[in-house]
Amino acid sequence: MMPNPFSNRDIISTLDFSKVDIEYLLEVAGRMEDIARQGSRVLANKILASIFLEPSTRTRLSFDAAMKHLGGQVIGFSDWDKSSLKKGETLSDTLKVVQGYSDILVIRSEWEGAARYASEILDIPVINAGSGAQEHPTQSFLDLMTIQRERHRLDGLTVGICGDLTYGRTVHSLLPLLVNYDVKLKLISPQQLKVRREDKMLLESKNVSFEEMEAIDTVIPSLDVLYMTRIQRERFRSEEEFLRVKGYYVLTSSLLKNARKELLVMHPLPRINEIDPSVDVLPQAVYFKQPRYGMLLRMALLGLIFDAF
Ligand code: CP
Repeated sequence: MMPNPFSNRDIISTLDFSKVDIEYLLEVAGRMEDIARQGSRVLANKILASIFLEPSTRTRLSFDAAMKHLGGQVIGFSDWDKSSLKKGETLSDTLKVVQGYSDILVIRSEWEGAARYASEILDIPVINAGSGAQEHPTQSFLDLMTIQRERHRLDGLTVGICGDLTYGRTVHSLLPLLVNYDVKLKLISPQQLKVRREDKMLLESKNVSFEEMEAIDTVIPSLDVLYMTRIQRERFRSEEEFLRVKGYYVLTSSLLKNARKELLVMHPLPRINEIDPSVDVLPQAVYFKQPRYGMLLRMALLGLIFDAF
């Protein structure tokens, strides 16, 4: 049997994981539904510290639920202004203190290097739950799981990624996973929000077929997956710049009338107005399934980091 590649490991960037690692994780995640239903005590003596310095619904609550399904406990805060950070304590001091109370840290911060930095100063495993515009690795693992579970394959797909390809951290984490598969990418964005140079360099170095475009309507019929993203208002240098692209894409049911029946419409959520609610009832819409896959994926990840399965 293959050794567990996630044992005691930090989860900072999807660039750190091989195809073998990814498939190992997806295989274990596929077994989590039964465990979630029955409950488990494999992490009964473990405490997860959840430090969220930016808003979150899905990531924070799904890590919380994942830990509890495995019998573990959760401490932490999401209202940082009620922590001693507000009094001027450094993040470094805060994390060193939290380490004394916990066995694993899950951290979200607007600071791009925060999770990497935490992993360097702490001895416990660190999971990046979102680092500024940079990365959100567990979101991208769950995105891949969604495609695999809903389409039963990852090869041979044409994947459209639409919206804020510059600041969207889920895009930046998803591309290094997709390059492991035989996919064609359609990168759909306004001129101002094109995919970053380093992402393009990665795609070129892996010989991935990709095309950049601005129009969404003409490409929809060719897609197997359409991954919509929110324009990341909080990352713009000015409100004026944001207003130029606000509402640039709004996916409606009429835009999808020529879409493939098997198309998956995905979104990491939260959405603002980039997917009209009329799409929610279409069979192609899987964005409310993604958060459940996210909890299962995070159960698998936590169990593997603690070598509990
Ligand atoms: N997808 C995602 O990260 O959602 P939250 O910001 O609600 O955690």
